[in-house]
Amino acid sequence: MKKIKLAVLASGGGTNLQSIIDNIEAGRLSAEIKVVISNNSKAYALERARKHNIKDIHLSHKMFETKEEFDEKLLEIFKENQIELVVLAGYMKILSPTVIRAYKNRIINIHPALLPHFGGKGMYGIHVHEAVLKAGAKVTGVTVHLVDEVYDHGAIIAQRCVPVEDQDTPETLAARVLKTEHQLYSEAIQLFAEEKVEVKDNRVYIKK
Ligand code: GAR
Repeated sequence: MKKIKLAVLASGGGTNLQSIIDNIEAGRLSAEIKVVISNNSKAYALERARKHNIKDIHLSHKMFETKEEFDEKLLEIFKENQIELVVLAGYMKILSPTVIRAYKNRIINIHPALLPHFGGKGMYGIHVHEAVLKAGAKVTGVTVHLVDEVYDHGAIIAQRCVPVEDQDTPETLAARVLKTEHQLYSEAIQLFAEEKVEVKDNRVYIKK
């Protein structure tokens, strides 16, 4: 089967990146990671890429005088590497409308809750799980969605539920949700590899 060419953008530890690498290496995912990009030079995600002989690039807005120059460089990297799908994996920066339009319906993100709940500005990482516990929700989950110009808003590709336990702390809940993220993200990427993702009127339909 054809291998879909990925760029993975990550800002932190990169356990989602690692799960994608592992699933590719185990033959469960028909993809090739052409490049890993991080805004944070110290992100462990870059180290993970190097360990697997994947090209790693530190690219931050701070390296450029204008946002436009950053976008130009990012799009150049995508083009040079013939990127077919951009995978945000704990990437804590917002992509500009220019980049989103250039890769319309070809940028995906993973969010550690069931969108449209517990999403939006300030809702990332541990803050999401704190909010879920504060609301007293009994179920949370994982969402993989297309990235559009509104934060945490693009059409949903896949979701999976994760139970909230009475004794959970934000950390124990985050760990349980993360395990599901590691399965669901690769499954969603595989749908793109198999060209099963169709977008119509801002809804995603999965071809059988
Ligand atoms: C993941 O839980 C991901 O869902 C979350 O950041 C974590 C990154 O972990 N993303 C967001 O909250 C986006 N709004 P990782 O670096 O170990 O993959």
